[in-house]
Amino acid sequence: MKIVAFGASSSSSSINQKLAVFAANQIEGASVSILDLNDYEMPIYSTDKEKAAGIPQLAKDFRQHLADADGIIISFAEHNGSYSSAFKNVMDWNSRLDGKIWLDKPMFIMATSPGPRGGQTVLKQASQTFPYQGSDVSGEFSLPSFNQNFSDEAGITDASLRTEFENQLNSFISKAS
Ligand SMILES: Cc1cc2nc3c(=O)[nH]c(=O)nc-3n(C[C@H](O)[C@H](O)[C@H](O)COP(=O)(O)O)c2cc1C
Repeated sequence: MKIVAFGASSSSSSINQKLAVFAANQIEGASVSILDLNDYEMPIYSTDKEKAAGIPQLAKDFRQHLADADGIIISFAEHNGSYSSAFKNVMDWNSRLDGKIWLDKPMFIMATSPGPRGGQTVLKQASQTFPYQGSDVSGEFSLPSFNQNFSDEAGITDASLRTEFENQLNSFISKAS
């Protein structure tokens, strides 16, 4: 099984990148590709820029990674109740290649934040809109209070959150395999 995973953040110390990597590494026998949104920095999307210079090669490269995968894992940073600009820009350019941004692939979507809401607002946004963008959302998980509930050594430390995470991850794995 080929999995592509990334945190929807451009922070070099992204807690969502940590959660996405952790989730991907829990899948036994999977071949995992980790993306960094900083490698896909493009001009801020505008129809004028698209007309003048076309769609950047980086958007095509990003889509190729999705196309090569059997399943996609994303953990969203929540910025002002929505996506990070870095993620939104990659998504906007990709939507110009094909409205089915997610290529009908199984997806495990997550969010985490240092606060108790765990990025639930951005996660809900993704779960409501992704099915219209060619996504098969087959697992969903929010991790509240990241610094209290996650450690680099053990991953998700709270027992009931860990169980919920594993249930959602297993539902994703059964779709992606
Ligand atoms: C511009 C900005 C806006 C933010 N807005 C929210 C927010 O609406 N809700 C929230 O829970 N946290 C918010 N935060 C805090 C983020 O959850 C926190 O920075 C988190 O570490 C982001 O995830 P990352 O480390 O993966 O980038 C915001 C942070 C920034 C820098």
